[in-house]
Amino acid sequence: MKEEIKNRIIRLKQEKNAVILTHYYAPAEAQEIADYVGDSFYLAKVAKKSTADIIVFCGVSFMGESAKILNPDKKVLMPDLTADCPMAHMVAKGKIEEMREKYEDLAVVCYINSTAELKCLSDVCVTSSNAIKIVKALPNKNIFFIPDRNLGRYVASQIPEKNIIINDGCCPIHASITKEQLIEQKEKHPAAPILIHPECEPELLEISDVIGSTAELIDYVSQSPHEEFIVCTEDGVDYKLVTDNPEKKFFYPDPRPCCTDMKLNTLENILLALEKENHEVLVNETVAAKAQKSLDRMLELGR
Ligand code: 13P
Ligand code: SF4
Repeated sequence: MKEEIKNRIIRLKQEKNAVILTHYYAPAEAQEIADYVGDSFYLAKVAKKSTADIIVFCGVSFMGESAKILNPDKKVLMPDLTADCPMAHMVAKGKIEEMREKYEDLAVVCYINSTAELKCLSDVCVTSSNAIKIVKALPNKNIFFIPDRNLGRYVASQIPEKNIIINDGCCPIHASITKEQLIEQKEKHPAAPILIHPECEPELLEISDVIGSTAELIDYVSQSPHEEFIVCTEDGVDYKLVTDNPEKKFFYPDPRPCCTDMKLNTLENILLALEKENHEVLVNETVAAKAQKSLDRMLELGR
């Protein structure tokens, strides 16, 4: 059954000149069928360069929106339009205006995990793999970092010379992993280094060995002489980790962190999206034009 669905997806992709972009948190089957799999920064770069007529984005809404903003003339589809990232909404627009009034020399730095409306009110976007580099490169002393408090605090800890004001949003999945859950894994597997995503709470980052985006953590494993790893992020990364490193072992906090929105990217939904082309991502043109500036600035500064 799954094989038949895969074959139909492959046929439709060719017929319609479509390309499938998948995030590492999507189900294994969506990673397997994808043309490109990666972290948010990589996928934004791929979307920008794509020559396909249709982009099928297996991720959550801010990723589909970013692909559309970077490609206003292309059709961007999502397997399930309800796949959303709760953190993407976690800042009040009024708060941004308030900060702009308070500080003359302010840059609003927006984690890509945010709605198009928030991007359009910001000066530059960042992802977890380029945030430190981009914030360092900004001429402004005052930074309002939205919406993720944990990535914001991590960036602030690496750039003490800037005044980084942090908004109080978070990823419900990463922020609910506890220090005790991590220590439990370390006690069971003392030789395993702890790899962690910066969306986790600072007290967890403090006891970890490697902090990075999904792609950075995956790259670390491939180059590391270690045989086992404690992986403190959403468990979709397991597919790539195990495929690339069949001889290595991976342990996760218990319960394994799972982003249910990402898991809506099933083969059945990918097929439906390609067949019917009705799960189209649409962004208001005025919002998209402004948001594009923030995304383009990220691509420029993050290069
Ligand atoms: P990455 O950019 O590290 O892939 O992270 C995206 C994300 O949604 C993390 O929760
Ligand atoms: Fe959003 Fe968290 Fe899911 Fe990433 S893991 S998409 S930050 S809810």
